[in-house]
Amino acid sequence: MTDLMNEGAKDFDANETRKMLSSAIGPSILEYIFLHGQMHIMDFGAGTGLIRSQVAPLVKKIVAVDISKAILSKLVSKPELHEKVKIAGI
Ligand SMILES: C[S@@+](CC[C@H](N)C(=O)[O-])C[C@H]1O[C@@H](n2cnc3c(N)ncnc32)[C@H](O)[C@@H]1O
Repeated sequence: MTDLMNEGAKDFDANETRKMLSSAIGPSILEYIFLHGQMHIMDFGAGTGLIRSQVAPLVKKIVAVDISKAILSKLVSKPELHEKVKIAGI
């Protein structure tokens, strides 16, 4: 299957709209969903982890699911998430 995010993955985190949405959505998740340090959660359509970076410090493990291998490669390149995130492609 063609990975539609092959090119898009490179600048994914630099996109201003995405940054703005992530900085708004992250705090809303934290406001409405109770998270704790023993929790295992799944992030479906994980992207490169802009929101996850805000959620990750509060939970034990995250299974990141994404259809794009390029996006998941970018995600695993983030050292701060190595201990927390398990990758699951489709
Ligand atoms: C707007 S981005 C997600 C942003 C991400 N949640 C974050 O925190 O930065 C949408 C993501 O969903 C993924 N996606 C799109 N369709 C999908 C599908 N059917 N199954 C899994 N992932 C999918 C895309 O590859 C893309 O990485």
